[in-house]
Amino acid sequence: MKAKIEFDGKFYEFPVTKGSEDEYAIDISSLRAQTDGLITLDRGFKNTGSCESAITFLNGEEGVLRYRGYSIEDLAENASFLEVAYLLIFGELPSKSELDKFYEDIKAESNVDEEMKKILDGFPKSAHPMGVVSSLTNALIAFNPSSVNVDSKEDMYKAIIKLLAKFPVLCAWALRKRTGQPLDYGDDSLGYVENVLKMMFKKANQDYKVDPVIASALNKLLILHADHEQNCSTSTVRIVGSSHAGLFASISAGISALWGPLHGGANQAVIEMLEGIKADGGDTKKYMAKAKDKEDPFRLMGFGHRVYKNFDPRARIIKQSADDVLANLGVEDPVLDIAKGLEKEALEDDYFVKRKLYPNVDFYSGIIYRSLGIPTEMFTVMFALGRLPGWIAQWREMRLGKEPIGRPRQVYTGEKLRSYKDIEKR
Ligand code: CMC
Repeated sequence: MKAKIEFDGKFYEFPVTKGSEDEYAIDISSLRAQTDGLITLDRGFKNTGSCESAITFLNGEEGVLRYRGYSIEDLAENASFLEVAYLLIFGELPSKSELDKFYEDIKAESNVDEEMKKILDGFPKSAHPMGVVSSLTNALIAFNPSSVNVDSKEDMYKAIIKLLAKFPVLCAWALRKRTGQPLDYGDDSLGYVENVLKMMFKKANQDYKVDPVIASALNKLLILHADHEQNCSTSTVRIVGSSHAGLFASISAGISALWGPLHGGANQAVIEMLEGIKADGGDTKKYMAKAKDKEDPFRLMGFGHRVYKNFDPRARIIKQSADDVLANLGVEDPVLDIAKGLEKEALEDDYFVKRKLYPNVDFYSGIIYRSLGIPTEMFTVMFALGRLPGWIAQWREMRLGKEPIGRPRQVYTGEKLRSYKDIEKR
């Protein structure tokens, strides 16, 4: 199959690549060479595939999300987060012995160099945990090899295990610093998700008993966030890694990309928005009008998605979970009613219907995080904790695939050549 482009009276032919789910892409790799310099322009990469990937399949029109061929609904219902991490990174669900070894290896690496505490100490208590976690992840380079020999299976495995082991500790430390709790290493006798909870919430003078309702809700949330093909932070991880920067540096860059309110930072922004609406008397219509007003910068946070134009399958699962978790924990959260009211109005509103704007993963996740006792500023860190295996899988795929350095082109719109003017003459 071929695609033809006509430019300046001449025709050029390009091969068409077909994905395993019958998705087609025009391969324009030879465009510049064939046409003597023509490039494509695609702001925000809305139509550009940056790679071929066998990790995650997403069909935004039909609301489908699959990791390595398994539906997100199936995995969220049945799998553990660590199984999903293994699946994403290595391509298959682990056998019992593979999973046991995977977790034993992670536990063996779960100490963080004590010197890292000095770096954490340098942050004020008020620092946003996303900035802290991104910096600490980058700082891991100082205590570990800064780059990984990707031709060595063993080196690659070690680097991945180290990150999966140390990252939750760094996330927990960011929270403990903020809440004034002594730093802790959790408990190796617990599962990965249970240990995350204990590391975050154990008080110095009290035992911490993991609540199975909370652990199961967190397990599900982490799975739902684990990968999402070439989104902003994942593309960042791949492009930084494509310069052969190390794994930790690439992931640290991804964390920074995730922080933004249009991406992972939306989960914090949603709760702040819902709280704001509640404090303002709960008038959802007023905020709907603001969201539609082009003169007003306000956007309905947790609504809309670059790829999902029907529904976000993760949001469906999370909305159901929010009801279950709150009921199970006996929590009543008035912002849940505001969220449901806003969703109903938006789904019936012409503006939102016409633009195919639906609630996304972040719309209800904050309500669950809050009911689990997680502070608002930590919501995006929880997203990062879930996304870590996806970032690692994508980085590994990119490096093993020997992808070239990511280096887009541009259409220059600045001044033409001019001569330097002496400062007195300007
Ligand atoms: N509220 C009001 N209007 C919106 C919203 C919103 N949340 N989202 C999009 N629109 C409008 C936008 O103004 C534009 O209108 P028009 O065609 O009249 O100019 C149209 O819908 C298309 O929007 P866009 O910004 O061109 O779409 P995009 O694909 O570039 O952006 C988005 C996608 C997610 C950044 C955007 O929908 C948004 O800002 N949503 C709010 C932030 C949010 O919830 N982000 C979390 C995304 S899901 C988690 C993750 O994976 O990161």
